[in-house]
Amino acid sequence: MSERTLLFTPGPLTTSATVKAAMLRDFGSRDARFIQIIAEIRTQLVALGTARPAEWTCVPMQGSGTFGVEGTLGTLVPRGGKLLVAQNGAYGRRLVDLAQRLGIETQTLVWPEDAQVDPAAIDAALVADPAIDVVACVHSETTSGILNPIAAVGAVVRKHGKILIADAMSSFGGVPLDLDTAGIDALVSSSNKCIEGVPGFSFVLVKRALLATCAGRARSVSLDVYAQAAELDRSGQFRFTPPTHVLAAFHQALQELAAEGGIAARHARYLANRAELLAGLARLGLQTWLPPALQGPIITSVRYPDDPRFDFPAFYAALAARGFTLYPGKVSQANCFRVGTIGQLYPADYTALCAAMADVLRGQGIDLAT
Ligand SMILES: Cc1ncc(COP(=O)(O)O)c(C=O)c1O
Repeated sequence: MSERTLLFTPGPLTTSATVKAAMLRDFGSRDARFIQIIAEIRTQLVALGTARPAEWTCVPMQGSGTFGVEGTLGTLVPRGGKLLVAQNGAYGRRLVDLAQRLGIETQTLVWPEDAQVDPAAIDAALVADPAIDVVACVHSETTSGILNPIAAVGAVVRKHGKILIADAMSSFGGVPLDLDTAGIDALVSSSNKCIEGVPGFSFVLVKRALLATCAGRARSVSLDVYAQAAELDRSGQFRFTPPTHVLAAFHQALQELAAEGGIAARHARYLANRAELLAGLARLGLQTWLPPALQGPIITSVRYPDDPRFDFPAFYAALAARGFTLYPGKVSQANCFRVGTIGQLYPADYTALCAAMADVLRGQGIDLAT
């Protein structure tokens, strides 16, 4: 019944048959087993992020990752407060868009898409403007695949006594990260990234003491992280219709993460996927957009071949017809496509992908390796 599709994308991504099978049961939103599933998800996500679970809470929010980020900014940034965004890609830009639409005064520090954000510049900005309350930064910038030095950013933000919101959408669960050590106050991720569930909700890991100060602050009813947490703590239930099947699948995905050996083992598999991909690209004569030292394990941007015969839409379609789904590029300064290394994919899948890419390129008359 379940056909294995290979999505070389950063989510929705390839999920296991057992994660999909977990969605075959219907739950009522007040079903005792379903309420238990929510509670277990919250507890297990906190445990993945911190060794001090009593100080943290997990707040699942309906909607995709952006909904969680919007809710977090709108709930945590004080009314009349000021936000600093460290931006080196499209998701950093989205943080700015969301904050501005929420009416939050926002300062932006911008780096090129092939450079990490620089904690020293964030330090200088916080020295220059003590009115900044909150700093927001993307951990894995999915635009390019770069990993930002989030712990170094956290150290700077903590030194100034400010709050750090990390958009760890594409990295949480796939890259080891201790929230306390990294100096993060709130982290946002979603169901269809490194935990390898299906799309449908985001979740916020936030310090209880911080969230406790945010009653009535949210700029939105449905994206009020404080109110969502309060209802979950009170009744164990979402405030509004929960994505029942998605939560059941995610609960199964968490068991599978544990069975794989936790975040360290999953990170190792993603690194092995990336190593196989990079070796295959090198054999094909294709170049990555980022230098190897900056290339994260989540997604890799690949430059279009420098050949006038290269036709990306045809390349994409031919690979898709063979069962390999790539991800179009997002970096703004170069023509690239992207290859995700997360999801239920293994090094052998990258060997097969690179062989298929070689074939399709040859079909376009391109043989870069020779
Ligand atoms: C770093 C980052 N932030 C935010 C988002 C937005 O998430 P969504 O598309 O689920 O709204 C994504 C999506 O890939 C992402 O990679």
